[in-house]
Amino acid sequence: SGLITIDPGFKNTGSTTSAITYLDGENGILKYRGYKIEDLAEKSSFLEVAYLLIYGELPTQKEYEKFTREITTHTLVHEDIKKILDGFPSNSHPMGVLSSLICSLTAFYPESLDPTRNEDAVNLSIIRLLAKMPTFAAWAFKNKVGHPVNYPDNSLDYCSNFLKMMFALPAERYDVDPVVSKALDQLLILHADHEQNCSTSTVRIVGSSQASIYASISAGINALWGPLHGGANQAVIEMLEAIKADGGDTKKFLDKAKDKNDPFRLMGFGHRVYKNFDPRAKIIKKAADDVLAKLGVNDPVLDIAKELEEAALSDQYFVDRNLYPNVDFYSGIIYRALGIPTDMFTVMFAIGRLPGWIAQWKEMRENGEPIGRPRQIYTGATDREYVSMNKRG
Ligand code: CMC
Repeated sequence: SGLITIDPGFKNTGSTTSAITYLDGENGILKYRGYKIEDLAEKSSFLEVAYLLIYGELPTQKEYEKFTREITTHTLVHEDIKKILDGFPSNSHPMGVLSSLICSLTAFYPESLDPTRNEDAVNLSIIRLLAKMPTFAAWAFKNKVGHPVNYPDNSLDYCSNFLKMMFALPAERYDVDPVVSKALDQLLILHADHEQNCSTSTVRIVGSSQASIYASISAGINALWGPLHGGANQAVIEMLEAIKADGGDTKKFLDKAKDKNDPFRLMGFGHRVYKNFDPRAKIIKKAADDVLAKLGVNDPVLDIAKELEEAALSDQYFVDRNLYPNVDFYSGIIYRALGIPTDMFTVMFAIGRLPGWIAQWKEMRENGEPIGRPRQIYTGATDREYVSMNKRG
């Protein structure tokens, strides 16, 4: 009812009020629950940030211990999930496997389908999601490469356990490198929430129909997969590799990105909200230098990335449109240095974004928000007479 305004991509439409993440695109400010991203990235840990996003406060020592203990208790998944995993051809993209396994939790925990379930039951679903996500992510990778899966090791912290499930092989000893684990933890913090982006809006809108939290998060994973969203981190590395394979001429690719007749875009550049710089990209650029130096990795693709960034930042096309490197521009370079294969990059983003999706889903339900249901302006045919098939030209 009333006047409908069309706003493609919801560029100027607010879908909700929210007390979770503050984002000032003009000044490059990002805060979770009022805490600066720079402080959290330096001083906090991923699970502490998860608690902060979901429950609104930094946990006390006791709350933190309870939270991490509960997550550790639920890392194991039902054995039957292995049968689902086995049904996927090896070589399946891990994002499709991940979203399917998360959605399969609706079958293992059907009580999540009850929209009237109490707070304790909702909290248990939240714990299960956080606990099982790394197990599913590592298993999606094992399926891809055709290796047997590893079970969680509950003596390890969140990131170390994930890395061990990813990389340990049955016949070899595997020790988690603390530098790798720490770098991963920081990357996850930087990805943990970003207000009403495409995947988060998806989670909220699916959840607004009172669908299960598992179904809502699974939908968010699918939204994240696309190259214009979380899939950009994979696309960035593929682009940098293509530039390298082509002889390393960054200007040629810059010209391609500027050519309106060419669909190619500079992956990892531009952002719907940040029009000056992406504060996460700043932290990540520095982290990429640190991590590569600490691990003694020399990656020629990093040099191409730096050259490309420099060229774009001084190019009028990019200046005029306020296009800056975003979070995905350098994250892939760190993931590579940590040994994470390219098609797992977006899965890493999903692990990081999970607490944000959960917090936003919870806020939407607690606010009692109505079902999401945008309107349209119809532009199709008006009245037409039905013509039987034998009379159609
Ligand atoms: N390369 C070349 N031109 C670009 C790019 C780019 N990466 N990004 C935007 N533009 C141009 C676009 O062609 C348009 O030009 P014009 O005004 O001449 O038509 C102008 O800049 C505005 O772009 P837009 O597409 O209207 O902006 P948007 O807010 O709809 O899109 C974006 C934002 C992030 C989808 C887009 O910048 C893009 O496609 N970037 C590359 C993909 C990427 O890195 N995505 C990750 C985003 S950050 C993390 C995440 O969300 O997962």
